[in-house]
Amino acid sequence: METGIAYCGRGAFMPSQHSKSLVSPSSISPSFSSRSLKSSSLFGEALRLVPRSSSSFKVSKAKSTAIITRSEIGDSLEEFLKKATTDKGLIRVLTCMGEAMRTIGFKVRTASCGGTACVNSFGDEQLAVDMLANKVLFEALEHSHFCKYACSEEVPELQDMGGPVEGGFSVAFDPLDGSSIVDTNFAVGTIFGVWPGDKLTGVTGGDQVAAAMGVYGPRTTYVLAIKGYPGTHEFLLLDEGKWQHVKETTEIGEGKLFSPGNLRATFDNPDYDKLINYYVKEKYTLRYTGGMVPDVNQIIVKEKGVFTNVISPTTKAKLRLLFEVAPLGLLIENAGGYSSDGHQSILDKEIIGLDDRTQVAYGSKQEIIRFEETLYGKSRLKEAGGVPVGAAA
Ligand code: F6P
Repeated sequence: METGIAYCGRGAFMPSQHSKSLVSPSSISPSFSSRSLKSSSLFGEALRLVPRSSSSFKVSKAKSTAIITRSEIGDSLEEFLKKATTDKGLIRVLTCMGEAMRTIGFKVRTASCGGTACVNSFGDEQLAVDMLANKVLFEALEHSHFCKYACSEEVPELQDMGGPVEGGFSVAFDPLDGSSIVDTNFAVGTIFGVWPGDKLTGVTGGDQVAAAMGVYGPRTTYVLAIKGYPGTHEFLLLDEGKWQHVKETTEIGEGKLFSPGNLRATFDNPDYDKLINYYVKEKYTLRYTGGMVPDVNQIIVKEKGVFTNVISPTTKAKLRLLFEVAPLGLLIENAGGYSSDGHQSILDKEIIGLDDRTQVAYGSKQEIIRFEETLYGKSRLKEAGGVPVGAAA
């Protein structure tokens, strides 16, 4: 095990990729070394970016003013975190969440689906896989010893995890977004946001110190953004149970790819209808699964596109600001993209109640300008007097 990063929790979070049996931490860690990660021929071709040599750079808004080292493709999660932040408590929370998501990925893969639920066993219990994910995440946060409050979309009340307020964090999560599409074998995911101290209301998405999602698809990935540290970073779960840094996204460019959520709103929201018609007329490629995690993740991975979930008089906002929209906002904006509720960045929106809901768009700058202009006639991202973009023209 890496020195300086305490192991998170109990062996219960550590199923191997190939075995259903629970394994102890020691059965995974000793054979692992960061060198084996970087030198393995298995990874050379699979990595999406050419490894770069290490360099140092200053991160202006980082909690600590220390020089933070640039991470490398091929780094383990532990190596990455040590380069990205000097905050040991944050490292611990993010490591524990990684372990929990590894377990959830395994449980999703091995869930049996029938009737109305997908279930898997946890100890002696049979639990619906979303409730199981919920339980695993709360336990991981408790074992991190740096989480003060945790709050889940499944249990939208603050739960005291016993960690400190000073130097500690509060975490909001959606344990298994898209749980209704586990049976269809679509990709699903965990979303979480980390705020400093003990507040999850009266704060904004911009106050998050980190946000992440676990994506349980054909591959299991941990996609992570740390405020003040450039880029949004993708880690791949390897067979030996370690997370390996495989991609860094720092720019979301233009490209004709759209993910239109709550499409039923086009019935009585003519502006949303106009926006959708623009995408169709301009021959955008439709890529929408109905799972917000894979649908937003594709913007980060493909480095282009737009995701929309818009309301109308008869279809109210469904997506939760605290548990899903704000964390995904940090992931998108750290990746060089933009987010909007129609008027402002999602990261500027105050979270008043734990259950606040909102419409949202994520994407490239031009796509968010088009979204705001088409829905409300103007965009804050455009200088006054600018020419309208696309559908709004
Ligand atoms: O969180 C709710 C959710 O399942 C998201 O994952 C997804 O983007 C959305 O609902 C789908 O909504 P709709 O079916 O209205 O497009």
